[in-house]
Amino acid sequence: MDVATRTIVAEKPPSLDGLLKLAGPDMAAVDALIRTHMDSPVPVIPALADHLIAGSAKRLRPLLTVAAARLAGARDDACLKLAAAVEFIHTATLLHDDVVDSSELRRGRVAAHLIWGAPSSVLVGDFLFARAFELMVGAGSMSALEILARASRVIAEGEVLQLTRAHDLDLDQEVYLEIIKAKTAELFAAAAEAGAVSAGAPPERCRGLRKYGQDLGLAFQLVDDALDYSGASETLGKNPGDDFREGKATLPLLLTMARAGAGERDFWVRTIDRREQTDADFERTRDLMRQTGALESTLELAAGYATSAKAALADFGASPWRPALEDLADFAVARTA
Ligand code: IPE
Ligand code: MG
Ligand code: MG
Repeated sequence: MDVATRTIVAEKPPSLDGLLKLAGPDMAAVDALIRTHMDSPVPVIPALADHLIAGSAKRLRPLLTVAAARLAGARDDACLKLAAAVEFIHTATLLHDDVVDSSELRRGRVAAHLIWGAPSSVLVGDFLFARAFELMVGAGSMSALEILARASRVIAEGEVLQLTRAHDLDLDQEVYLEIIKAKTAELFAAAAEAGAVSAGAPPERCRGLRKYGQDLGLAFQLVDDALDYSGASETLGKNPGDDFREGKATLPLLLTMARAGAGERDFWVRTIDRREQTDADFERTRDLMRQTGALESTLELAAGYATSAKAALADFGASPWRPALEDLADFAVARTA
């Protein structure tokens, strides 16, 4: 098919329906594990945890663990505890992240630290991390435990690296990629790899699924960073503009700064470096973003990673899980929420 023809053929909009249907019974079991392990005799813990966990619509990361395990041939249910652990690790990092980022909205709800305070939010995050480790030990795979323990450490490193470097107007794009690889892609990679490992898959299959997860995670975070400038809070469930307000040099901003030229330098020094901002500054930045095509370039890079993620599944034979995971990669790029 030549290029001209290819552009006219309407592509079907990426949907998660196939994957959600396939994974339905497993994900119901994962939800039940999440419910029971959220419990604690200390009342604020289940209340705060439920506030965040009940708001999660997609449960993408545990879905990845289940799908990777089933694609790798898992016939038992070892992956379910790991999937619940993955969701707990993710939820713990979100509780901590919203404190660090002073974010006010998460999953369409007021951020937990604004209701219960930052100390409770951080400590319940620790509780969820600990629960994740109990679940992982219960899953009985030392290798899966190692993979997810390492991911927990790498996420923390990524968050700290971002904290110390991300306000830098001259942040290297390489460092930006290193940050998102650590804070986001590592959990996607580990979620998929741990699923494959728990299924007893051979090393090359585990590596393939790890690569799929990592590239999916990079695409996911690049889109996340674009949506922080182009999304709406009603669909996103969090407030766009958080990154700008925090002076975080994500790729859309780095590209805009590079392309807008030296004439804007003072504007960036004031708004990003010194973080002296008005609402009009955010709008002006969005205008510059439109003029420079920075969001398109960010999304193109995300699409490249999604393609690479799909390619990592090439060696897997016929299984309904494979096209479902391919759809997930397309969905990660096309999503608006
Ligand atoms: C969150 O990164 C990554 C982790 C929680 C480890 P961001 O701060 O960029 O993500 P959002 O926008 O708050 O979801
Ligand atoms: Mg954040
Ligand atoms: Mg953050």
